[in-house]
Amino acid sequence: MTAGAAESRMAEGRMTETAAQLRRVAVIGAGTMGRGIAQVAALGGFETMLFDVDEGVLKQAQQSIVGALQKGVDLGKVPASAAEAARTHLRTTSRLEDAARGIDLAIEAVPEEIGLKIETFRALDRLAPPHAVLATNTSALSITELAGATDRPERVIGMHFFNPVHLMRLLEVVRALQTSDETRAIAFAAARRMGKGRPSCAAAWSSIRTTGGRATTSSACCATRSAPISKTTRGRAPRGRSAPQS
Ligand SMILES: NC(=O)c1ccc[n+]([C@@H]2O[C@H](COP(=O)([O-])OP(=O)(O)OC[C@H]3O[C@@H](n4cnc5c(N)ncnc54)[C@H](O)[C@@H]3O)[C@@H](O)[C@H]2O)c1
Repeated sequence: MTAGAAESRMAEGRMTETAAQLRRVAVIGAGTMGRGIAQVAALGGFETMLFDVDEGVLKQAQQSIVGALQKGVDLGKVPASAAEAARTHLRTTSRLEDAARGIDLAIEAVPEEIGLKIETFRALDRLAPPHAVLATNTSALSITELAGATDRPERVIGMHFFNPVHLMRLLEVVRALQTSDETRAIAFAAARRMGKGRPSCAAAWSSIRTTGGRATTSSACCATRSAPISKTTRGRAPRGRSAPQS
């Protein structure tokens, strides 16, 4: 075995270990993306709490997830036992404190407005256990800015799913300037359990996007975003990196 292959196998082993330690996931926002993310999280065996401010949306989301799981069974793509387990793993709530209780990972999928996302991240930071990773499904906003709105910037990361979430294997893992390597590993591990990507499949993880006119490059292992940072950003850069500039 080559050194590269051995290293990749070790990384995969560490990721499997990390994945096994993750138990509880909150998905924030039950719209198009949130309900899809909740579906794959529940299918991945996570205790999944789907939160939305709108009770009617939560009801629709639950029905749509149950319907999609049944369709998967009917088409022979999802074992009936896995669909049944996913249904029991999934709960909904309109109380953020209930959604955030005891979680290892939150994935935010509220509308694409920076003020709303900052408010959501501040609330999650207050309510979620200190070890929890806070991820955003933002398409184009600065994850560095969201990280800087929390007291755990190193535990904030982008997990950008594609629609329809249960069919698209692609997921972009996007680092903020402050994101730690451990957080990146947790995001990858969670993604694997949700049936997304394979570290050995570079193409499935890579992309280039533009954000506010600046290039955003994703590598085979993760993505780094060089988005503008507001003057109010309180982000702390990890050791060895320069502090974010406004
Ligand atoms: N739709 C896509 O194809 C797509 C793809 C990738 C990423 N995204 C990103 O995913 C995020 C969500 O997009 P979407 O298309 O699912 O939006 P959506 O409008 O379908 O759903 C947003 C949900 O958030 C809820 N919401 C509003 N305020 C909230 C709050 N304070 N707390 C909790 N929930 C709240 C709304 O009730 C709604 O159900 C956006 O950041 C978007 O850019 C979307």
